[in-house]
Amino acid sequence: MSLTEFIADRSRCKTILALVGAGLSAGSGLDTFRGAGGLWNNYNAMDLATPDAFERDPCLVWQFYAYRRHCALKAKPNSGHKALSQLSRLSLDPESRLSFLTLTQNVDGLSARAGHDKRALLELHGSLFSVKCTSFECAYKNDFNMDDPLVPALSVPDSGDYLPDPSLSPEDLPHCPRCKTGLLRPGVVWFGEPLPFRVIDMADEFIMFKKVDLMLVIGTSLTVWPAAGYVDMVKSRGGRIAIFNTETSSECEWSVEGNAAETLPKALEPLLGMEYLK
Ligand code: APR
Repeated sequence: MSLTEFIADRSRCKTILALVGAGLSAGSGLDTFRGAGGLWNNYNAMDLATPDAFERDPCLVWQFYAYRRHCALKAKPNSGHKALSQLSRLSLDPESRLSFLTLTQNVDGLSARAGHDKRALLELHGSLFSVKCTSFECAYKNDFNMDDPLVPALSVPDSGDYLPDPSLSPEDLPHCPRCKTGLLRPGVVWFGEPLPFRVIDMADEFIMFKKVDLMLVIGTSLTVWPAAGYVDMVKSRGGRIAIFNTETSSECEWSVEGNAAETLPKALEPLLGMEYLK
């Protein structure tokens, strides 16, 4: 049976889980992390994406995330983001008899900007558009308000390149508006940090208590846990796996090679084009 036939078979393909990685946003011009041109090929993740790095040089880390936020804001959601967003809205309609959840490893906010229903979207690694307090006693966390009077140096040079301003000092960085003492940090999950318990619980609950019929693994190298582990969890429960990647995979029943921004909407056409309310 082809993937298209399985997706179209509403009696068998009723619960879909999507796991999204940087490869989906590559279609919107954003860098992936690994492979050609990947962020971690050009910058050292240990200097920019760990709690120790922030402790060592919060100015360098903040400016890196200001640069990534700048790039994310310039990018636009692509047809792949929009297809998942449409699926999320479809699954809200009881007539569709479809359960759907997107687990995204991306922090670029493009799925949310594509109109993805927030109740069916888990940002496993947080978001470039949220901040949290670094003080242990303070639990302040908030969405980043782009016109916050954050230090101008967190804006990105007109060239759009990541050129850290060496004159920036921690006093210039945003501090917690609640406890007034803690430095604010990007609301993303860094290497060596656990995912938010709420997110893990919701992902586990979906996989453990719903029978996932199809998992769409989209634009991810499956190198970071626990996200990578969800594929085996679904497989071990009889779920079928479709991998959307520019590289062919032999690890799954369906390997859809190409740019996910194009291949994903095409594969989902049987669902997205289906008139449930006939
Ligand atoms: N369409 C589909 N797949 C693509 C495309 C594209 N246009 N471009 C690249 N890819 C594939 C690559 O072949 C690779 O398998 O997307 C994958 C991107 O892998 P990574 O760069 O490792 O990104 P990701 O899997 O999302 O990384 C996971 O690692 O550094 C952490 O927190 C970071 O969330 C990130 C996590």
